[in-house]
Amino acid sequence: MDTLETIQTRHSVRGYKPDPVDDETLTRLLEAARQAPTAANRQPFRLVVLHTRGREEEIGRIYGRPWFVQAPLVIGVVAVPAEAWRRADDKPYDEVDATIAMDHLVLAATSLGLGTCWVAAFDPQATREVLGLPDDVEPIAFTPVGYPAKDQAATSRRPLSELVKYERW
Ligand SMILES: Cc1cc2nc3c(=O)[nH]c(=O)nc-3n(C[C@H](O)[C@H](O)[C@H](O)COP(=O)(O)O)c2cc1C
Repeated sequence: MDTLETIQTRHSVRGYKPDPVDDETLTRLLEAARQAPTAANRQPFRLVVLHTRGREEEIGRIYGRPWFVQAPLVIGVVAVPAEAWRRADDKPYDEVDATIAMDHLVLAATSLGLGTCWVAAFDPQATREVLGLPDDVEPIAFTPVGYPAKDQAATSRRPLSELVKYERW
């Protein structure tokens, strides 16, 4: 699948088969995230891999929808503010960098026939407890990773005419 086809193929998957994702495939996903560009190449993110089998109840505390723990894997991205590149006005870019890394992983998963769904509506306090996160890192997003249980319907997008300004706002 080429890159543009991968982008067009990706949809949020909210139903997974229990089939496992092998370690070689998982490594390819993590490697795709590692290759993501980051501001000043600081790489201020960490990926947390969770195997859901037998831990459904605990991992379900992070995000309570049943499909979240249907997939054999859940992967979270965490930003590390102390490692962030900051613009001259002090705006930190660690969350942007973490998000790009996650999108690389999501698109790599799509190209390998796996389903994903961005999740930001997680419970931050439960997440800190389940993952044992220190106070100086910030959970940004999660995704289940597994084989889709069914085809996903395409969602609509605003037309380019609404999303794009040329030359000036
Ligand atoms: C940053 C971000 C956070 C999201 N959080 C959630 C979420 O918590 N739960 C959920 O079911 N979907 C979540 N989504 C998925 C969006 O609802 C979905 O991407 C959007 O409706 C477009 O549909 P598509 O992904 O199928 O193209 C999130 C997506 C993004 C990019």
